[in-house]
Amino acid sequence: MFIKNNENSSGFPLVRMRRNRIKDFSRRLISENVLTTNDLIQPLFVTKGKFENSNIDSMPGIKRHSLSSIISEAKEIYSLGIPAIALFPFIDETLKDEIGSEALNENNIICEAIKAIKNEVPKLGVICDVALDPYTNHGHDGIIINHEVDNDETLKVLSKQAINQVNSGCDIIAPSDMMDGRVKTIRLSLDENGFNNTPILSYSAKYSSVLYGPFRDALGSKVLKSKLDGKKSYQMDPSNSKEALREIQLDIDEGADMIMIKPALSYLDIIKSASENFNIPVFAYQVSGEYSMIKAAAEKKWIDESKAINESLISIKRSGASGILTYFAKEVAKNINK
Ligand code: PBG
Repeated sequence: MFIKNNENSSGFPLVRMRRNRIKDFSRRLISENVLTTNDLIQPLFVTKGKFENSNIDSMPGIKRHSLSSIISEAKEIYSLGIPAIALFPFIDETLKDEIGSEALNENNIICEAIKAIKNEVPKLGVICDVALDPYTNHGHDGIIINHEVDNDETLKVLSKQAINQVNSGCDIIAPSDMMDGRVKTIRLSLDENGFNNTPILSYSAKYSSVLYGPFRDALGSKVLKSKLDGKKSYQMDPSNSKEALREIQLDIDEGADMIMIKPALSYLDIIKSASENFNIPVFAYQVSGEYSMIKAAAEKKWIDESKAINESLISIKRSGASGILTYFAKEVAKNINK
């Protein structure tokens, strides 16, 4: 639909779109979207043991922090004005099992990291994933029964995992597992345990994407090529959009406080429909593969890194995201603050 600016105008040469664009001051005045540090969430990896402070080959510039390094990282992130971090664990193979038991250990690395960060940087928001993949030896987000990830058995463990994390001081619970009914189950169990003020940021529309590859390297959680065909029995098919809106509606009905679309750049249409159709904060996750693609092209000097980062993030904002999880958060905040 076109809206006529002036009924009497017959367009060019009376109308010249470039007039507003010619000077820098004017371009600044007419800019419709702006990225601020308030829009950013920095995902961070934490580990204990032999991989402390190790680099992730497929994610240049990102490492698996030790406890002490994650504290200094959190301090820096807070001082840059970034409101929150999202924490992910890398755990030793020997701690992984079929049912992801380590997720429920109240002294696991995530719990230790949350406590340490909340102790040292109490005002920095800490978001934690709810899903079993960092802790299972098969890499799936849930519990396998009869060769399939079992929805309802998984829900029982996920709600315990959520409680384990909030007991340590986690501020926002972010279920990323894509089981049916997880938001409601987790909401009820948070409320029963006295955490009725802890928000749920649901990964509502999480697509089965090749772009999570580098993240799985970071966590050491490659899903074994098995009969289960990756994570397609729970993550969404990239060809679908109506289904995403249905997922979001269900999560809102179940009590989600914020929702997320993931990945971001290939799913801007979904972010846009989500923000237009629902009155709830919409977040987008610029995932590991999106990060690595920009890094790799920039390393080859095929694109300008910082311009590519800014363009990708402003597109996500333009499509309607209230906030963005991005591995570039720290770098971008430094530039914004310059
Ligand atoms: C765990 C989880 C994944 C990501 C965030 N939480 C991976 C997956 O589902 O396999 C991916 C994030 C990224 O690629 O940056 N369920």
